[in-house]
Amino acid sequence: MNGPEKFRERIRALDPWFHDIDLGPGLRTKLAPCADEPIDHPKPTWSVIRSFLPGDLFGRSVLDVGCNAGFYSFEARRLGAARVLGVDSQRREIAQARLAAEILGLDVAFRRCSVYDLSIADPGAFDVVLALGLLYHCRHPLLALERLLEVTRGTLLLESAVAREDEAPAPRGRMIGGLFRELAPAYYVENGPDSVEAVYNWFLPSAACLTMLLRTVGFRGIAHVPFSAERSLFVCTREGEVAGTANELHRARLEVLGMVPQVLHPGTLALTLRLWNVGTAAWRASVGHETERGAVLLGVHLLDEAENVLEWDYRRYRAGLPRDVPVSERIDLPVTLVAPLATGRYLLEFDLVREFEGWFEDAGGTPLKVPLEIRSGG
Ligand SMILES: C[S@@+](CC[C@H](N)C(=O)[O-])C[C@H]1O[C@@H](n2cnc3c(N)ncnc32)[C@H](O)[C@@H]1O
Repeated sequence: MNGPEKFRERIRALDPWFHDIDLGPGLRTKLAPCADEPIDHPKPTWSVIRSFLPGDLFGRSVLDVGCNAGFYSFEARRLGAARVLGVDSQRREIAQARLAAEILGLDVAFRRCSVYDLSIADPGAFDVVLALGLLYHCRHPLLALERLLEVTRGTLLLESAVAREDEAPAPRGRMIGGLFRELAPAYYVENGPDSVEAVYNWFLPSAACLTMLLRTVGFRGIAHVPFSAERSLFVCTREGEVAGTANELHRARLEVLGMVPQVLHPGTLALTLRLWNVGTAAWRASVGHETERGAVLLGVHLLDEAENVLEWDYRRYRAGLPRDVPVSERIDLPVTLVAPLATGRYLLEFDLVREFEGWFEDAGGTPLKVPLEIRSGG
């Protein structure tokens, strides 16, 4: 069997294909419409997406989330992107994408991974993130959007099915829980307990609702581009002002580097924390004045094993950042703490604090819990 014949067999073994990709003479991926999409999907959509990408992608990194067989990833690479990673939660789709990359000879990486598993630690932050036809497949749309924010350094292009205007009322305000709130409609699509997340549809938000969801997780400069009565594109970044909303999101991902040392009583604990700025505001380092409002420093709470607070602002410990930390950047911070005096098991809960303004946890962040055992030195 010659080259094209062999490829044809491998292509057909991965039927059905959702993406129509031209892999060379006589080698088409898709032979019939699939999942309600026309046979030439996603070529018509691509021409719109393309017009909202930065002028050229030279030297930029692109992450394609829910990449399917990789159509958009390949186009991004052809536009000069230096690094392209496609991720999809389904096995067959990743196999299709890898086969297409092999036949096309394009240097694009594909990984089987859910949107929920994306983080700034792995695979990192990207200049352009594509989330096309993804969100309505997610049972946890806010979590998915939070993960997308974490890995977006520049622009997110999110394309989605939306509720039609004639079936979704316009947003309106009313009192809920004693506060005046804006309400925007989203439909829940009922599925059985055995429904496969990546295949079924779960939520159908109105365009107004999806704009609010994006804004809530921290995206700014949100442009809504209706494709049709039922589909819309949203283009947004981490920068920009929104009236009536906290514009600056202070959010961190914290990790311990290496092992947590065992501490003999009495002792000192030394470890290094890795801190990523996954919010939308740069962290301002302290210049050493006690009363410096808004400077970002590391502090710690001491808890017992059952998470009862033993000392909230443990020893008033503060580790200053050696420099300002822009959005999407990370810093490694050495921490040296006097260990608790009594032997036993504890939890150290590390969090960042904006001096005189509050802990990051108070603004919706998640501190890092580190278990600690203090053993008798005898
Ligand atoms: C409707 S298709 C869209 C594919 C492509 N982005 C496009 O617009 O043509 C949805 C894709 O998202 C993938 N997907 C669904 N849930 C996912 C999740 N939680 N994480 C990553 N990919 C997911 C599916 O496997 C599928 O390939």
